[in-house]
Amino acid sequence: MIRKYIFGKPFHTDAVIAKVESADGIPSYGTISLAEGFSFAYKMEQDDIVYGLGEANRGLNKRGYCYISDCTDDPNHTEDKRSLYAAHNFIVVSGKVNFGLFFDYPSKLTFDIGYTRSDLLEVTCEEAHLALYVIEGTDAYDIAKQFRSIIGRSYIPPKFAFGFGQSRWGYKTKEDFRKAAEGYRKNGIPLDMIYMDIDYMEGYKDFTLNKENFSDFPEFVKEMKDQGVRLVPIIDAGVKVEDGYDIYEEGVKNRYFCQREDGSDFVAAVWPGDTHFPDVLNEDARKWFGNKYRILIDQGIEGFWNDMNEPAIFYSKEGMEELKAVIRECVDEEPFPLWKLEEKLNGLSNSPKDYKRFYHNVNGERIRHDKVHNLFGCYMTRAAGEAFQRIAPEKRFLMFSRSSYVGMHRYGGIWTGDNKSWWSHILLNLKMMPSLNMCGFLYTGADIGGFGADTTRDLVLRWLALGVFTPLMRNHSAIGTREQECYQFENTEDFCGIIETRYRLVPYLYSEYMKAALHDDLYFKPLVFIYPQDEFARGVEDQMMIGNEIMIAPVYTQNAKGRYVYLPERMKFLKFSKHGQVTEELLEKGHHYVEIALHEVPLFIRDGKCIPLANAASTVEELDTARLTLAGFEGAQYVLYEDDGIHKDYENPRNYRTLVKSSEM
Ligand code: GLC
Repeated sequence: MIRKYIFGKPFHTDAVIAKVESADGIPSYGTISLAEGFSFAYKMEQDDIVYGLGEANRGLNKRGYCYISDCTDDPNHTEDKRSLYAAHNFIVVSGKVNFGLFFDYPSKLTFDIGYTRSDLLEVTCEEAHLALYVIEGTDAYDIAKQFRSIIGRSYIPPKFAFGFGQSRWGYKTKEDFRKAAEGYRKNGIPLDMIYMDIDYMEGYKDFTLNKENFSDFPEFVKEMKDQGVRLVPIIDAGVKVEDGYDIYEEGVKNRYFCQREDGSDFVAAVWPGDTHFPDVLNEDARKWFGNKYRILIDQGIEGFWNDMNEPAIFYSKEGMEELKAVIRECVDEEPFPLWKLEEKLNGLSNSPKDYKRFYHNVNGERIRHDKVHNLFGCYMTRAAGEAFQRIAPEKRFLMFSRSSYVGMHRYGGIWTGDNKSWWSHILLNLKMMPSLNMCGFLYTGADIGGFGADTTRDLVLRWLALGVFTPLMRNHSAIGTREQECYQFENTEDFCGIIETRYRLVPYLYSEYMKAALHDDLYFKPLVFIYPQDEFARGVEDQMMIGNEIMIAPVYTQNAKGRYVYLPERMKFLKFSKHGQVTEELLEKGHHYVEIALHEVPLFIRDGKCIPLANAASTVEELDTARLTLAGFEGAQYVLYEDDGIHKDYENPRNYRTLVKSSEM
């Protein structure tokens, strides 16, 4: 049962696409106050769990902290951070009473979940213009699925996107890309994609290519594809201000950029220096920007990643003038007021003041950016998604974005941004996954090995062993950090074994992904969603269910030789090792300590179930899915979903086949 309550005049975000009638009266849970802006308050029971918030910091149970939906380019995801890159305003309160809440509000929204007072859930925003959806259901899982059913089908990538991808900020020339491809090939490590970061462009200009390094780009795309590797370029939100650059000139001429109050185009400095933001909330501008993806598609490109779309602002013209004024004030002061300068400098990037300095044109209405701030990344990705639909309606493209709002899950996936090479970020990655699924984002993953800071061999291996199960499996790192391609470390066969395990599991992972996408279900689930009566499972946050058959329990601590796991039922414990070796052990329900070596991938098959395994291959396309073996329990059946991985023939009954495990593997 879903009820919608409208307060004031909400901005139409398009997050919810099913028709939900507005209800009269007030929600039956909590209290609402419109005295100062909007506030929803609910007194939580001691044992209530609060799920949701998608890409957010801290635990799977969000209780005990305060989170702010305010899309932010902040690369330091320390525990004290309240905002990351996304705004996913859906939560579920789960205990004796279960209900879900979606606050469809595109500006800053605060979720105080037992932070100010441990028993109080309070959701507040400055303006009482929003749609609040209240969802009743039997349990949190049921509520999450109901929410998914009103926000539209999750994005489905092409099947190659389930392969492994290598990325690094700093690859500049064809040689850099060839070297990466060769590093993998020589070591026998499967690879499907190499990502192109900003240096492929001419002066960081969107949809351009560095002339010197990529003079014959279509041939180069083909050269790589012939080796089984697809190149996936980045697209940034800001369009460089430069006379003679056609995209800049067209945008200025047609008034397609976000403008200041006086009608001039707003200038934000990002990687290229001065840029303008395409007004992706304006339908015409969105169509125009989206059509530009064609420039690279026509050269053989089949996937993109959208970045800096919070939108990130290093500084604005206005901000820089203010800083200069403070510097001038400071220079002659005695003692030198360093703190004052520091404060000004630190506040220069992504400043809330700047987000009030520009406007969108939405159907002729001027809307100040801060009122709809959390929609920018979503609409930039929508621009691309709508364009793909126009350009090649039957074809699937790879697309994921950094910033997002609910609704964007229909157009692309997300990666979780600039994490660090920290052990704690493996765990954060794991905990975020089911929360993201609840909000519609199925095609997700983190920068494996860590983006910022220097990584270590063991950290990359352990992170990869989790990445085996995330739909997006990409190793990415920042310029200036230690190189972390798998071939940079000793004993590359350890890396090979883990990535081969991913490929062996692709038939299962893809099948479960597709079932989740087609049935508004979750791919990653907290244990308690499957075992609702199991009190112990309720508290488990470092093991997850994937699809209908398996549970994962990655190792995420330095120097660990294994870990403790909780089995809510009898399971088969599989360890995938090097050279295709798999060991199998039957474990009873309860607590166990399991040893897991650095090169091993652990997984648990639920009682009475089985999963298909392919032989490893060097790309997804080369997997032989006609010859699958089954691992798990004798007599178990598995319904495999399989399609061509390219087109959109999802509803074809021929995509399903039943496999039966009849003999020992
Ligand atoms: C941002 C992105 C990161 C990328 C970098 C350079 O920090 O989050 O993934 O490598 O910009 O483009």
